[in-house]
Amino acid sequence: MAMLVLLLLSSLAVLSPPSEARLYNNYYARKCPSFNKIIQDTITNKQITNPSTAAATLRLFLHDCFVTGCDASTLITSTPFNTAERDADINLSLPGDAFDVVVRAKTQLELTCPGVVSCADILAAATRDLVTMVGGPYYNVGLGRRDGQVSKASLVEGNLPRPTMSMDQIIQIFASRGFSVQEMVALSGAHTIGFSHCKEFISGIYNYSKTEQTDPQYNPRFATGLKSACADYPKNPTLSVFNDIMTPNKFDNLYFQNLPRGLGVLKSDHGLNNDPRTKPFVGLYASNQTEFFQAFTRAMEKLSLYGIKTGRQGEIRRRCDAFN
Ligand code: HEM
Repeated sequence: MAMLVLLLLSSLAVLSPPSEARLYNNYYARKCPSFNKIIQDTITNKQITNPSTAAATLRLFLHDCFVTGCDASTLITSTPFNTAERDADINLSLPGDAFDVVVRAKTQLELTCPGVVSCADILAAATRDLVTMVGGPYYNVGLGRRDGQVSKASLVEGNLPRPTMSMDQIIQIFASRGFSVQEMVALSGAHTIGFSHCKEFISGIYNYSKTEQTDPQYNPRFATGLKSACADYPKNPTLSVFNDIMTPNKFDNLYFQNLPRGLGVLKSDHGLNNDPRTKPFVGLYASNQTEFFQAFTRAMEKLSLYGIKTGRQGEIRRRCDAFN
């Protein structure tokens, strides 16, 4: 009998990856049984009072995962000794609501089960629940991530896509993290919700090729609308427009339907519809929302595992904005 158990155990050890790299759906079932309910209640209240929270959190999650993995390093605030990721130029536009929803959940969780739940798990689960709340697909988020102990602004540049990058560069950023072109396009469907600041696309609608012309990829009437929305931009840099003008607050496939009509906001959005490598997937997701949701589900499950710390790595932060 003992031999059988030994044999079983050793074969399990061969079959399963090192325990360090694993997440579990029921990770908090005993340690913090109210985990799911606290996340749900927090995100629901927050999204109802601040409807921009879902998009803000989804973007924060991407920015966190792509730099040193999904380890909540982007939640750390700078100190006199360390300029944190959050203060990197590209992260300055991450809305406060995204950080706030995580902090609120953490406060509740620390009251209920102190020292148990990581900020990285809160961000991953809150993102999934918010995406679902605004109409997107439900996907699996395993739990047991630990929080990172490094957050440096200097590590950010070059690791996140910018709308001014070529499609080669954008594809490369995703490829170096193991994401295919198709997965990159599916993830970009996240632009079905949320905003872009005028700063991010103004060069495409004004002074294109040093004239007052507009980038021909924009639908002319849409470009006129963007120009008037951004007319006060030099005085008011906070001006922004919806990423998906058709259904801005609903997670659906309208973003993909917009692109061939010239209704994309960012140069990179138009790029997806122009590059022969990405265009077929734009067409597929524009015509079939189920395909989009399935691909988005798989890609988000993959993103949620990217560079995670488990086991003895990292820590469980006491507060999400500071290392212990
Ligand atoms: C493909 C390359 C991508 C580029 C160049 C890009 C760039 C941008 C830019 C410039 C903004 C506007 C930010 C602002 O002005 O505040 C934005 C917004 C957003 N991005 Fe992306 N993005 C890309 C892919 C993704 C992916 C893969 C996701 C998520 C899986 C994502 C999620 C979002 C969301 C949700 C918003 C709205 C944020 C808000 O409303 O606060 N993006 N993106």
